[in-house]
Amino acid sequence: MKRPLIVAANWKMNGSLTLVEQMTNAFNGFVVNDNVAIVICPSFPYLAAFAAAAKNANLSENIHLGAQNVSAQEKGAFTGEVSTTMLKDVSVSYVVVGHSERRNLYNETIMDVALKVKSVLEAGLTPILCIGESEAQRVAEQTNEILASQLQPVIDIIGIKKFVDVVIAYEPVWAIGTGKTASPHVAQTTHQFIRQFLTNIDADVANKVPLLYGGSLNATTSEELFAQTDIDGGLIGGASLKVDEFKLICSTAKGK
Ligand code: PGA
Repeated sequence: MKRPLIVAANWKMNGSLTLVEQMTNAFNGFVVNDNVAIVICPSFPYLAAFAAAAKNANLSENIHLGAQNVSAQEKGAFTGEVSTTMLKDVSVSYVVVGHSERRNLYNETIMDVALKVKSVLEAGLTPILCIGESEAQRVAEQTNEILASQLQPVIDIIGIKKFVDVVIAYEPVWAIGTGKTASPHVAQTTHQFIRQFLTNIDADVANKVPLLYGGSLNATTSEELFAQTDIDGGLIGGASLKVDEFKLICSTAKGK
């Protein structure tokens, strides 16, 4: 079974209408390699603008729109929150869930993350579930334990079978925005652990789940990382804001 390769851009709290325009212009006519999907995740205010610009430009149908967060609630008195229905209204099909910045800066708990994954799936959207250890946890050789503790509650809540519709992004916190990209060996070894963890529960499902790497991934490191057996693409922050570099990263994504 060939897993798709996914290249996802996480703009975080960056970008502008100008970047939306530059990005959609840059990808006008861009040929996405076979078995590859590109996902652009701007901030909420730019989702509708991106969807409209994408419609006007000649964007490949393999370029999708993603959100960086969502509420686990359906609707109602939740000031400042955004629902899955709203995201679908503006053509979003992927949602980043449980990014370490949300967990660490906004106190999202493992349970919050699991419930968000559940509601994203129930809405028919694809969650990009982020997991990853801190530097101190890696040094203390707790990486595998931490990753398992971040995955297990989600498995408990949605059931392993539903993971065929989930994308997992392994993002070591020490590599995010630091320039310290994990080496292909470290990334592959950790991805292999994640795949094995899922395999122990359901081998068929484990084989289908795309595992993305994230953390200072750039155009210099993408090709080698994407070539690793258990790395099925990337979640890219800083480098996704540079139109030319992001395009280059997308060109290095070759479906396996
Ligand atoms: P970075 O961010 O590429 O800037 O390290 C990745 C992420 O946090 O998704």
